Amino acid sequence: MLKLTAIFFLTIGHVHGAAYKQVVINEYGPPDVLQVVNQAKLPEPGLGEVRVKVLAAGVSFTDTMVRKGIYVGVEAEFPFSPGYDLVGIVDKLGPGVEGITVGQRVADLTVYGSYTEYAIRPANSLVAVPDNVDPVEAVSLVLSYTTAYQMLHRVGDLKAGQTVLIHGASGAVGMALAQIGKVAGLKMFGTASTAKQDFVENLGVSPIDYKTENFVEKVMSATENQGVDVVFDAVSIDNFQRSFSTLKPGGKLITYGFYSQSLSSEAGDSFQMVKEFLKWKWLQLRWKWFSSEGRSADFYSITDLRKSHPDWFREDLEALFQLLANKEISPEIWKTFPLSEAVQAHQLLEQGKVRGKIVLRVAE
Ligand SMILES: NC(=O)c1ccc[n+]([C@@H]2O[C@H](COP(=O)([O-])OP(=O)(O)OC[C@H]3O[C@@H](n4cnc5c(N)ncnc54)[C@H](OP(=O)(O)O)[C@@H]3O)[C@@H](O)[C@H]2O)c1
Repeated sequence: MLKLTAIFFLTIGHVHGAAYKQVVINEYGPPDVLQVVNQAKLPEPGLGEVRVKVLAAGVSFTDTMVRKGIYVGVEAEFPFSPGYDLVGIVDKLGPGVEGITVGQRVADLTVYGSYTEYAIRPANSLVAVPDNVDPVEAVSLVLSYTTAYQMLHRVGDLKAGQTVLIHGASGAVGMALAQIGKVAGLKMFGTASTAKQDFVENLGVSPIDYKTENFVEKVMSATENQGVDVVFDAVSIDNFQRSFSTLKPGGKLITYGFYSQSLSSEAGDSFQMVKEFLKWKWLQLRWKWFSSEGRSADFYSITDLRKSHPDWFREDLEALFQLLANKEISPEIWKTFPLSEAVQAHQLLEQGKVRGKIVLRVAE
């Protein structure tokens, strides 16, 4: 079970002379449960830990699930700070830390805890960030692009010239799949709602309007009934079934979320029950799909893969920082918000208007 490493000295509202600001939640609920608090004392790094002065924190759909209490894997006690990833500057080293220097720029996948001016992180989970990249762009890579990179290269094992279908191609992970897929020389189809068709086309993806078109028919006719090598789908179980029917023999469906169910869930919903139901349906589907001309289906989780292959997480994020420094990828930052406007950032994300990524700019 994950444990909070910071000790909270909470005083809600403005306190003169506070050491630092942090966004915390005291209960699960809508965006306005995100509260800005002033902490009276900077947190101190313990053995093997580092204090990081946060420059930028990503805002992700997954953070909205953590806020609603429907994200399995975060069991922090209230009050706690959400926020799946950060980029910052090493501010203080705890005892026993070697190989990291104060002032160095670093990134981390926190899962929760990055909506803060100062965070305590285990030294061995930090990844160095090149000095010549913008922290806002850099933080966009940590969750969204690493997810995309690992699904493309570690799970999908895709090669230049192969064909993929990307659902939600205008979203943070979808955009990342498109940009990294372009570098890899893939032929790409992508679904998005009507207003986002141009955005998706500009990413080098053949857009499909899932609101007005049947994506199965569109993909099959554009590939002369061959189908695609891999589909990336985080929409819903129903969508997974339709996606599976667009695969070539030997093709792979890579699922990685349940966006529709998650968006419509309220705080207090027993998401665990929904998850159990989804798991049961998922097992049924996998049984049905088993040995269907070599087609297969898998579920990707960034935290599970990081646990089993921490070296891959580090290598892949470093590879992405290099692609960013070389300008081979360039995340579309739809909007940035100050830390104090985390509520507005979550509202905007849940309205479904964002194309690309939104980020909290915590410090200059
Ligand atoms: N398993 C993992 O390790 C992992 C890692 C990161 C994220 N995720 C999951 O991945 C999903 C996407 O995350 P994100 O950060 O990219 O979210 P996001 O930035 O909010 O993007 C999701 C996009 O999906 C589109 N969409 C909604 N319904 C759709 C449908 N029926 N068909 C096609 N597109 C649809 C939406 O745009 P339009 O509808 O307007 O086109 C939205 O922009 C979430 O469920 C998240 O929890 C999982």
